[in-house]
Amino acid sequence: MNERLLIVDGNDELRENLSDYLKKEGFNVDSAPNFQQALNIYSSFLHDIVIIEIELSDGDGIELASKIRFLNPNVKVILITSYPSLSSALKAIKIKVEDYIVKPFVYEEIKVSLSKLIKKTKIEEQREKQQNLENQKEIFPIIGESVEIKLLFEKIKKIANTPTNVLLLGETGTGKELFARAIHESSYRKKKPFVAINCASLPENLLESELFGFVKGAFTGATTDKKGLLEIADGGTVFLDEIGDLPLSLQAKLLRVLEDKEIRPLGSVISKKVDLRFISATNKDLIEAVKESKFREDLFFRLNVITIHIPPLRERGRDIEILAHHFMRKFAIKMGKNLKKIDPQAIKLLYKHSWPGNIRELQNVIEQAVVFCETDTILPENLPDYIRSHEKFFEKAKEIPLLSIEEYTKEFILKYQSLYNEQELADMLGITRKALWEKRKKWGISRPS
Ligand SMILES: Nc1ncnc2c1ncn2[C@@H]1O[C@H](COP(=O)(O)OP(=O)(O)OP(=O)(O)O)[C@@H](O)[C@H]1O
Ligand SMILES: [Mg+2]
Repeated sequence: MNERLLIVDGNDELRENLSDYLKKEGFNVDSAPNFQQALNIYSSFLHDIVIIEIELSDGDGIELASKIRFLNPNVKVILITSYPSLSSALKAIKIKVEDYIVKPFVYEEIKVSLSKLIKKTKIEEQREKQQNLENQKEIFPIIGESVEIKLLFEKIKKIANTPTNVLLLGETGTGKELFARAIHESSYRKKKPFVAINCASLPENLLESELFGFVKGAFTGATTDKKGLLEIADGGTVFLDEIGDLPLSLQAKLLRVLEDKEIRPLGSVISKKVDLRFISATNKDLIEAVKESKFREDLFFRLNVITIHIPPLRERGRDIEILAHHFMRKFAIKMGKNLKKIDPQAIKLLYKHSWPGNIRELQNVIEQAVVFCETDTILPENLPDYIRSHEKFFEKAKEIPLLSIEEYTKEFILKYQSLYNEQELADMLGITRKALWEKRKKWGISRPS
């Protein structure tokens, strides 16, 4: 039993006997005869559970309990008294004590009360842990521990619940759609639809009827009404993928939706109000497209209230390794194989590759490797030839210097210290402010004024 306990009672005999009894039961016990000594000892050890006699020689046990709760809001309190009264019972309820035991009692009673209390706490902790896990799973199925990805998580958390439109920029396979979903899932719109539309996948007229819908008779073949995707997404999020490929005529129509917040199905004279958040994505240079008059400037500014750059995989340091292991486990489960690790030489090859197809490419490479792997370890020969061609490089270079966590941290501090305060920097690095201060000192990095 790891729980640390404090018994506070002025009766020396009872206090000592009860302490001995509970020690024998496996608890870690301290005791104090009065209010003052109890407070002193509590502030040094912050016990998990306190058993307090209400009538103390130098003060009120209930007041002691509330002072202790102030020091540790999670403390569990059991009160004992020789003089039960309604007023003390009411006070006890107010400060949320776990049990209220009247003297004289047998020690067994305290033991039973403690076991119930510990069981309840364990269940609560388990529930909380499960809840946290589920929340995490739901909001961020995005793997990554690099500074860049942590910064993106922070940014997403900040913007998710705002109504602003977002433009996601990033090379192919960097996870633009995944991030779009994460924004939706972290927002108040999450119970409403997330509708993804690929602007490059359909010819212009089909795309228009997909987006806006139509009424019966709008054109030959329109035999019934059909709801458009923008109407289906009402209250939720519209993800416009490959927005750079949206034809100019549709750009004008989309602009009207953004300005008037209403849509009109093809062939209809009635407009319908819609409440939408737009997240767009492209791997094209939209500013260049605006300059070349291929993309409307007014639409660009409407869609691009907040821009998020998703970094390519080759700039995410150790995430290559983390993602590779993640995909290995995923595909091993799917294919019913017992795979445990990736050989260090194979990892080096993964680091050496530049990953033009980013995470999607890595996912495919690992899937293939899992198929070919015959042991519990992914070996260099399980990787595709084009990735292995880097092996020749190793023969010459022998060792590839990987960016260590220390180097990464240093780079991060230098890069972002002017943008974030000390606490934010420390939080994003997952270290304390003191540790941050020590690192600065070690590396001679002064704080920006
Ligand atoms: N950080 C990540 N963790 C886990 N899986 C990821 C991550 N990033 C991307 N993926 C996976 O990689 C694949 C590609 O991601 P996604 O489709 O979101 O990329 P994209 O940027 O939209 O690509 P494209 O530009 O080609 O449309 C998906 O299967 C996605 O689940
Ligand atoms: Mg995509």
